[in-house]
Amino acid sequence: MRVAIASDHGGKVLRNEIISLMKEMNINYIDLGCECNTSVDYPDYAIPVAMKVATNEVDRGILICGTGIGMSIAANKVKGIRCALVHDMFSAKATREHNNTNVLAMGERVIGPGLARDITRIWLTTPFQGERHKDRVNKITAYELKQH
Ligand code: RB5
Repeated sequence: MRVAIASDHGGKVLRNEIISLMKEMNINYIDLGCECNTSVDYPDYAIPVAMKVATNEVDRGILICGTGIGMSIAANKVKGIRCALVHDMFSAKATREHNNTNVLAMGERVIGPGLARDITRIWLTTPFQGERHKDRVNKITAYELKQH
């Protein structure tokens, strides 16, 4: 599995924590910033990660900002992206099993590094259940394909 990760200035510390986790898990990742020496704009980081997932350059994306909200809104504007904002372990598992999410968003100002690590580990390792959930995800894709 190949993962693209990025954050804005509000998520830099947690991004480094998640990069450490991916190294421990032997996950192949690319880090798309930010350098974060100044305040930056989260869409400038969310959209490149989402594009890499949408074009199959990578399998998954992880986005972190202060709340995770801006990153998730921006990522979900890219066709083919199903980004979940997750701050608990139950949702991390459910959103892989039911929604086949391909991007995970988290907020550094919302959760601590331990919980973020657990969420990420679960999200990276839980398979999609398919079956009835596949029909539901396909309905989202069908709607998306009708948009300009
Ligand atoms: C930056 O201050 C903050 O707005 C950003 O990190 C994020 O929380 C936006 O949704």
